[in-house]
Amino acid sequence: MKIAVSGFGTVGQGVAEVLLRRRDFLTGRYGEMPQIVLAMDSRTYAADPEGLDLQALIDRKKETGSVGKTGYSDSAELLSRTDYDMLIEVTPTDIKTGGAGLKNITRALESGKDVITVNKGPLALRFCELIGLARKNGCKFRFEGTVGGAMPIINLCHENLVGEHIRSIRGIFNGTCNYILSKMDKGQPYEQALKEAQQLGYAETDPTNDVEGYDTAAKVTILANSVFHKKVTVNDVKITGISKITAEAVAQAASHNMVIRLIGEVSETKLEVSPRLIPVGHPLSISGTLNIAQIEADLAGPITITGRGAGKIETASAILSDLIAILDERRGHA
Ligand SMILES: NC(=O)c1ccc[n+]([C@@H]2O[C@H](COP(=O)([O-])OP(=O)(O)OC[C@H]3O[C@@H](n4cnc5c(N)ncnc54)[C@H](OP(=O)(O)O)[C@@H]3O)[C@@H](O)[C@H]2O)c1
Repeated sequence: MKIAVSGFGTVGQGVAEVLLRRRDFLTGRYGEMPQIVLAMDSRTYAADPEGLDLQALIDRKKETGSVGKTGYSDSAELLSRTDYDMLIEVTPTDIKTGGAGLKNITRALESGKDVITVNKGPLALRFCELIGLARKNGCKFRFEGTVGGAMPIINLCHENLVGEHIRSIRGIFNGTCNYILSKMDKGQPYEQALKEAQQLGYAETDPTNDVEGYDTAAKVTILANSVFHKKVTVNDVKITGISKITAEAVAQAASHNMVIRLIGEVSETKLEVSPRLIPVGHPLSISGTLNIAQIEADLAGPITITGRGAGKIETASAILSDLIAILDERRGHA
């Protein structure tokens, strides 16, 4: 399996690290190691048809800030002239236009390549189109890490819960918001909690996507399309963020033994992101940066999963599980 990686930032480097850490496992299972033949960041690329030295790649990116010495102008064009079987797309999420990720995924699927992504933008905007393109061209297209990072929700619904009618999914899908709200539970004002989240690297310098609920909305959109087979985009989600939550509102909730949490919800009739009152002790009252989801299935009843919604290795673990699923399907493993 020859892999092209678009984006060699946090998650891209995590993928390289995880492949190194699972070298023996992967070689044992498949008889050969999947090779990264192309890695690109925003300005440069490195390529080797025989497979790049992953440790050297990680070291070079860390030391020089660049993955290679050669520049390029168009990532989709670079993909077109590379011999690869699978694209791992981990460029930054852009939920307004889909960004480079949309172009790269489209180009890969049009060329008959399998795709794994954790980039929410393309799926939040063009889910049906991309799935259609994958089907038309016989490509595998997996995106477990787009929702909940390491928390396995999409594949759980598609695989273990395949015979269920899933009635609803409600969850906390943004660790930054949950961190801020947890700090507000302890009496910190919103601005101070946000500043602390930024200092700790949980929140971006521009936190709009997180605190206004757009990031959660993108994830809810992906669940709506992939689990509920709706044909929706992020623009169909009713969104209220957390930036207007006051210390008074949090204190009032506490006086009723409740906390406020930013909940993403999808069901047959709902597609919403909003702050909700959650009783203390309820699974969705979770504190800190963890993600959590409650799946309501008709036969199984409620199922709750929780896990790390972000992180270099955690997110790469979701990519690894997608990679193994594709390799198994392609190579006829059980
Ligand atoms: N970080 C997480 O824990 C996490 C969790 C779940 C999902 N995700 C998703 O994973 C994706 C990557 O996140 P990240 O944290 O790794 O971001 P990041 O650290 O900012 O890395 C993004 C990488 O993409 C490169 N890049 C930017 N524009 C590009 C372009 N046009 N063509 C090719 N490469 C380009 C950047 O290049 P430079 O290095 O030159 O800037 C960088 O290497 C995002 O879509 C994010 O939403 C991340």
